[in-house]
Amino acid sequence: MPTQNGSVSASDKSAAYAEVLDRIERLIAGETDEIAVMATVACELHHAFAQFSWTGFYRVVAPGLLKVGPYQGGHGCLTIPFERGVCGAAVRERRTQIVEDVTQAPHHIACSSTTRSEIVVPVLAADGSVRAVLDVDSDALAAFDETDAHWLERVCGLLAACFSPP
Ligand code: SME
Repeated sequence: MPTQNGSVSASDKSAAYAEVLDRIERLIAGETDEIAVMATVACELHHAFAQFSWTGFYRVVAPGLLKVGPYQGGHGCLTIPFERGVCGAAVRERRTQIVEDVTQAPHHIACSSTTRSEIVVPVLAADGSVRAVLDVDSDALAAFDETDAHWLERVCGLLAACFSPP
C-alpha cells in the first residue's frame, strides 16, 4: 500500500520481497544451471515490483569484463568493463551500490534515457568470488534503499550454489 507521497513503506516492501523470495526459492529448488536460475530470478523480481523498469544480470565472463545475462526490460548494453558503470563499481568494491539519482552519478552508464535510480548487487559464489551482478533500474527517483539492498542480497545468495569454482 503506497504511503501519502506514493512511496511504499519499508514494511510493505519487505512483505512483498518475502513473498517473491519464497516463490523464487520454490521455483529454483534443485536447479544449478546459472542461466536458468538468473532468468527465473529476473522474471519474478521484475514482475513483482511496478517500479522496476529493468531487472537483470551481468556475468563475469573474463578478468575485468562483465557481459549481459538474462534480463527483463528494454535493451541492456552487452558488455561492461569493471572500470566502468555502477555495475563495475559493484564488482570492484564487492558491495551493493544504491544510486538515488543517476544524473548525479557521472560513472553511471545509461541504457535507457528514462532511468532515474538504480541498485546493483554483487553475486558471490560459494568461494566468495564475484561471479555476476544483479542490476535493477527504476524510472522513479530514489526508488531503492537499504530495504531493497537487504532483500536483493538475500535473493543473490540463492545463486551461490550455481557457480562452480572458477
Ligand atoms: N546502468 C548500468 C549499466 C547497465 S543498464 O542499466 C541495463 C551501469 O551503470 O553499470
